[in-house]
Amino acid sequence: MSAADPGTGSRTAVPQGGGARLLQPGRRPAPGIEPLVLGIETSCDETGVGLVRGTTLLADAVASSVEEHARFGGVVPEVASRAHLEAMVPTITRACEDAGVTLADVDAVAVTAGPGLAGALLVGVGAAKALAWALDVPLYGVNHLDAHVAVCVLDGGPMPTPCAALLVSGGHTSLLHVVDIASDVRLLGETVDDAAGEAFDKTARLLGLPYPGGPSIDAAAREGDPTAIAFPRGLTSARDLQRHRFDFSFSGLKTAVARWVRACEASGRPVPVADVAASFQEAVADVLTRKAVDACRENGLEHLMLGGGVSANGRLRELLAERCEAAGIALRVPRLRLCTDNGAMVAALGAQVVARGLAPSGPELGGDSSLPVGTILVP
Ligand code: KG4
Ligand code: ZN
Repeated sequence: MSAADPGTGSRTAVPQGGGARLLQPGRRPAPGIEPLVLGIETSCDETGVGLVRGTTLLADAVASSVEEHARFGGVVPEVASRAHLEAMVPTITRACEDAGVTLADVDAVAVTAGPGLAGALLVGVGAAKALAWALDVPLYGVNHLDAHVAVCVLDGGPMPTPCAALLVSGGHTSLLHVVDIASDVRLLGETVDDAAGEAFDKTARLLGLPYPGGPSIDAAAREGDPTAIAFPRGLTSARDLQRHRFDFSFSGLKTAVARWVRACEASGRPVPVADVAASFQEAVADVLTRKAVDACRENGLEHLMLGGGVSANGRLRELLAERCEAAGIALRVPRLRLCTDNGAMVAALGAQVVARGLAPSGPELGGDSSLPVGTILVP
């Protein structure tokens, strides 16, 4: 498991200042030097631009519009799209400055082609197309979910495959069997209702904690007792396991928390926010880690990758490390700032795709808001 931050990167709240083809022979880096890949991420509320060479992270610039959405308690798609448009050029410039390169050094452009907010995706895809065309380098439209897993190569080198991956983000919660991160990722199970991050965000709102809910609950839970309230563990009964071995469900948990809080308020007692947060977080971490370890065991996989915004959660990281160690599974967890959305993960997946010599995306590349996890590279 990798140590906590700081790591390479820069982050701003407010943006500042100001036809795809195969790698051209003339543009190939010198022998022995891996191609420099620029990755662009705009699927939600972070404008991310990363620069990666092989499995080495050179820059990770992120401009977040999260504060513009906070008062609405969730991401407003139109606001996010406009923020991407304003942040794009300054964030590309900042990434190049951080890496000490110019755009002329870039050998390939990778971009999140989905899943995500349709309008937000289009801003990134449009920018990536323009850049690839202007630089005369190939363009790769890649899957945001697979990129959350691919980011693990930046903390530990090439991915030990086959392996399992636990992907926990604001919109998705999946267990994956990774045969090859650039070309073959299979779904073992996924949430049947809310994603883990969504459950954190909704529960935080219920408890009056600020958006985004994940970090708020993580912080509040540190002062609480995780055994105070026995919240339900979705899809873990013997009957549920028959049909949903590696699936997850968090909507029942969210409802159980809401009921518990209402009963507490009705009785006139103050809501013990830290205990509720800690008990809720424990229920989520317990189910995620139990099923991830079982998936490794039952599929004969000795390595597990963790990815997605919720992988920043302290208790999840701790419990997963404990249970993997007990089961003899080698766990790889990205450094904290690479857990939530960023451009480095897109560049990291792009670099894997380039290394396999896969054909780039065509000039008609668009954004697909519901791109399935098995489609790693969009033609
Ligand atoms: O991967 P991500 O940045 O965006 C999506 O692709 O959805 O994940 C965002 C999600 C949000 O739901 C946020 O509340 C959650 O990740 N999150 C956390 C933590 N940090 C972010 N959840 C639990 N604990 C955290 N420390
Ligand atoms: Zn994400």
